[in-house]
Amino acid sequence: MVDLATLEQAALTALQACTDEPALRAWNTRFFGKHGEVLQALKGVGAVPPDQRKSYGQEANRLKEDLLARYENALAEVRARTLEQSLQTDRLDITLPGRPAPRGRLHLSNQTLRQIYAIFADMGFQIYRSREIEDDLTNFELLNMPPHHPARDMWDTFYTTTPGVILRTHTSPGQIHVMRELFPRPIRVILPGMCYRYEQITARSEIMFHQVEGLVIGEKITMADLKGTITAFARRLFGPERQIRIRSSYFPFTEPSIEVDVDWPKDDPISGDISKGTGWLEIMGAGMVHPVVLRHGGYDPAKYSGFAFGMGPERIAMRKYGIDDIRQFWKNDLRFLSQF
Ligand code: DAH
Repeated sequence: MVDLATLEQAALTALQACTDEPALRAWNTRFFGKHGEVLQALKGVGAVPPDQRKSYGQEANRLKEDLLARYENALAEVRARTLEQSLQTDRLDITLPGRPAPRGRLHLSNQTLRQIYAIFADMGFQIYRSREIEDDLTNFELLNMPPHHPARDMWDTFYTTTPGVILRTHTSPGQIHVMRELFPRPIRVILPGMCYRYEQITARSEIMFHQVEGLVIGEKITMADLKGTITAFARRLFGPERQIRIRSSYFPFTEPSIEVDVDWPKDDPISGDISKGTGWLEIMGAGMVHPVVLRHGGYDPAKYSGFAFGMGPERIAMRKYGIDDIRQFWKNDLRFLSQF
């Protein structure tokens, strides 16, 4: 007959000595395994004299329940402690600052285009997208520039291997597309987009650049509407401190034709190359739509008239932000681009 009190004391002492999970498991095997001391004590109940059997059995069961409960507690405690420890030591320091992702932004040309869109939207203009790959017919002939017209020299361009298919030299051919699509409705649109020219690259001209074309057609459109629209636009874009100059010019597709300059005072250190010492930078051509062009678009010049303009957003941005070289726009130099 096992002495239960001695057994209990031994089990408790051994349990207290366990400091980790493997030790606890070993304890469990020692007392509750197949040949465990407690189980053996329980099995031994048959050998106990009958008069003590009941109290022995009860005591052995109590002891078993009690020890198992203590064991579970100790196991839970050890596990909690281990978890706590690993939380302390294996801690992931999420307070470390991350590597900043480089922030992008809109290219200065796009920013400028959007400013221009917003102003014309307020004046009731819609945006019309025309094609960048044009045919010679629409880029030149329908705009009143027959083959061998001397004005074509101003717009030499990139030809493709398909005869008559070129990269557009200006956004003006879009006028033909709009008119043919919208006839006979009145028109008030801007046509933004990229243009291409085969020309000498300098501080003020590039082989690719944006233009924003404008076209207004109706029954009583006059030069006064053109001047009013352009002046209102320039005021809003540049603010009242910039001056605008309108002077007469020549384009085959307008009659009369004008050009619009923005002042670039001669005492400004970067004015030299850009304004060629004149104190002005040309930012757009414009005029009253030539009757031949109206007719090519389907509008009868006896009934309709209209004005058109074509401006250079990169030139406008140069004036607005004091940029001294148009080549900066497509260099992809972050030191330049991230300033805006
Ligand atoms: N297409 C001309 C150019 O690229 C600019 C221009 C002049 C556009 C007069 C117009 C216009 O619409 O009426 O130089």
